[in-house]
Amino acid sequence: MRGPTILSYLFSGVAVLTAARAHVGTAPGKTPKVQTLPSLREQAELLDGWTEERKALIPQLLRKYGVDAWLMSQREYAEDTVFWALKEATQFSARRRTTHLFLADPVGGAPSSYSWIENTNVVWEDLRRILATQKPRSIALNTHPEIAFSGGLHAGELDAVVQGVGEEWKEKFVLEPMLGVEVVATMVKSRLPWYRKMMETAWAIIEEGFSEKIIVPGKSTSWDIEWWMREKIQSLNYTTWFQPSVFILTAEGFPAADGSSAAMDDPRAPDHPIQFGDLIHTDFGVSALGLNTDTQHIGYVLYPGETEADVPKGMLEGLKKVNRLQDIVKSNMKIGMTGNEILKASREQMQSEGIEGKIYCHATGEWGHSAGSVIGMTNLQDKVPVLGDLPLLKNTYYSIELFAEHFVPERNRTIVFPQEEDVYWDEATNSWEWVYGRQEEMLLIRTPAESGPTAPTEL
Ligand SMILES: *[C@@H]1O[C@H](CO)[C@@H](O)[C@H](O)[C@H]1NC(C)=O
Ligand SMILES: *[C@@H]1O[C@H](CO)[C@@H](O)[C@H](O)[C@H]1NC(C)=O
Repeated sequence: MRGPTILSYLFSGVAVLTAARAHVGTAPGKTPKVQTLPSLREQAELLDGWTEERKALIPQLLRKYGVDAWLMSQREYAEDTVFWALKEATQFSARRRTTHLFLADPVGGAPSSYSWIENTNVVWEDLRRILATQKPRSIALNTHPEIAFSGGLHAGELDAVVQGVGEEWKEKFVLEPMLGVEVVATMVKSRLPWYRKMMETAWAIIEEGFSEKIIVPGKSTSWDIEWWMREKIQSLNYTTWFQPSVFILTAEGFPAADGSSAAMDDPRAPDHPIQFGDLIHTDFGVSALGLNTDTQHIGYVLYPGETEADVPKGMLEGLKKVNRLQDIVKSNMKIGMTGNEILKASREQMQSEGIEGKIYCHATGEWGHSAGSVIGMTNLQDKVPVLGDLPLLKNTYYSIELFAEHFVPERNRTIVFPQEEDVYWDEATNSWEWVYGRQEEMLLIRTPAESGPTAPTEL
């Protein structure tokens, strides 16, 4: 998902089925199908299993970052960002004061993790006793000023913590931003099969939405398709983490003449129907099972009677070019490098290959924009302060989000070709792999002959 485009709008009707077509996959050899979710009870079991696997990683993470203890505390509805990654499936918020303590190397056979849900001083008495026995030399608190995943300790709660454990522990408090980041970013292996199914569902919804079943050229607007997508997500018992967007990439004034992305924030022309010959784009994600996907695909609206062979060649070249940009970024994403280093290396390579465009990749999975290094932002193509300086972690999911510009001779203009596709770190191959696939073929909206205008003769 890109930066904010906040618009309020009205639902103005959903297009009707006009014609059936044989399926043409977006990725060669793939026909995505909607994947239904298990019962809520089974989902809870799955989620709790994944959470246990994640929690088991914490002591070794504390050791990795040289911290003896990690204290997280919060009040109901004022949760630390990390709370959501550690909660049980049937917990809907923190209750009372909810406090967690993790130890790197507990002495005397003591447990390595503790949790309290308390509204009395019992939590502080217990904590003081445990700290007195365990004598941690450092206690990490989530107090980062810039990083949400390691800055979730509320200001008032920090006061309560200092008062509760006593001033004598205050000098042991440390900030280790990578603790929160890595706990939230790490995607335990057992989550991947479901993440893949969710991704397949996202692709299936896009393929249905970007078809003549839903789009009636000359009638359907971007908003019609966006709201159709929302209803579709709802009907499948999934949810989402952002309003889907549908853009007409070939609309007048899009993109800005200087090729900047400013025009990507243009309103989606609520009263401007999608027309024959339009190149259209969606930014779309689904949420379920504590996971979030993020995908951008493009489609072309064929004139009546046209076939695959009639897609302007310049548009197919644009898709190929952005595919190449995906390869460049993916191959530069070396574990341990910072997002800013990856951005610099990728931009140098794209320039040497003569590709104009922008790179703005982010971690995904646990959150839509999840914990981890950021590789560019639409307005920051040289470096991203703080978030771009974090190292790239393995065992995470990333959204490869970017666009390439391409001059389309058939339209006598430069058009942006955006793509977004999620990858996961594959330990077996030591590389980033597509979660489901990537778009290499144009989605097509087909209309039978003699039901509308014919294509204009080429320039
Ligand atoms: C959605 O949930 C309802 C209620 O549990 C269930 O009856 C229905 O089959 C589910 N639909 C899908 C597509 O999973
Ligand atoms: C293509 O666009 C350029 C610049 O906008 C214009 O000068 C030129 O006449 C156009 N060519 C055609 C064939 O329309």
